Amino acid sequence: MIIRDFKLSDIDDVLAIEYESFPDPYPVDILLQLHNSGAGFIVAQLGKHVVGYVIFWIRNRIGHIIAIAVDSKYRNMHVGSLMIEKTLKIFFSNNINTVGLEVRKSNTAAVNFYLKHGFVKVSEEEDYYNDGESAIIMHYTKADN
Ligand SMILES: CC(C)(COP(=O)(O)OP(=O)(O)OC[C@H]1O[C@@H](n2cnc3c(N)ncnc32)[C@H](O)[C@@H]1OP(=O)(O)O)[C@@H](O)C(=O)NCCC(=O)NCCS
Repeated sequence: MIIRDFKLSDIDDVLAIEYESFPDPYPVDILLQLHNSGAGFIVAQLGKHVVGYVIFWIRNRIGHIIAIAVDSKYRNMHVGSLMIEKTLKIFFSNNINTVGLEVRKSNTAAVNFYLKHGFVKVSEEEDYYNDGESAIIMHYTKADN
C-alpha cells in the first residue's frame, strides 16, 4: 500500500468510493474544483487501484478534513488510519497544529475512528446537512503544541 498525491487518472476510483460512502456525495466537478483550487488530496493505492482518499485544506492556520473515505471492501484494515496519520503529518510539517472536521451524528464508525486518532468532540451543530442531520464538530490539537 502506498499513500501518494491524487492524480487525475485516479478520479474514477475516487468517485466510485465517494458515491458508495456518502448519502450526499461530491459530484466530479466539485472534487476536481477542490483539487484545482489547492486543497490537499491524497490517495491510498493498493495494486493498481485507489482504495481510499483524503481531501483537506488549511484556512486561517487551521487544518480541515473535507472528506475521508475507504472502499467498503477495504474498511477496518487500517487504510483510513494510514491516510489520517499521513494527513496529520502534512499539517504538522506546515506548522498547522489544530485540525477540525464535521461528521454526521449518526456516523458512529467515523466518530470512533476520529476518537481513536486523538480527535475530541467539541460541539454539535443542528440541521447542518441538507437532510437536516446534525453534525458533530471534532478537533485535534497536537500534544506538544
Ligand atoms: C471512517 C473510515 C474512513 C475509517 O477507515 P478504515 O480504514 O475503515 O478505518 P481503520 O481500519 O483505520 O480503523 C481505525 C480505528 O477506527 C475505529 N473504527 C473504524 N471503523 C469502525 C467501525 N465500523 N465501528 C467502530 N469503530 C471503527 C476503530 O477504533 C479502529 O481501530 P481498531 O481497528 O484498532 O479497532 C471508513 O469507515 C469509511 O470510509 N467510512 C465511510 C466514509 C465516512 O464516513 N467518512 C468520514 C466522514 S466524516
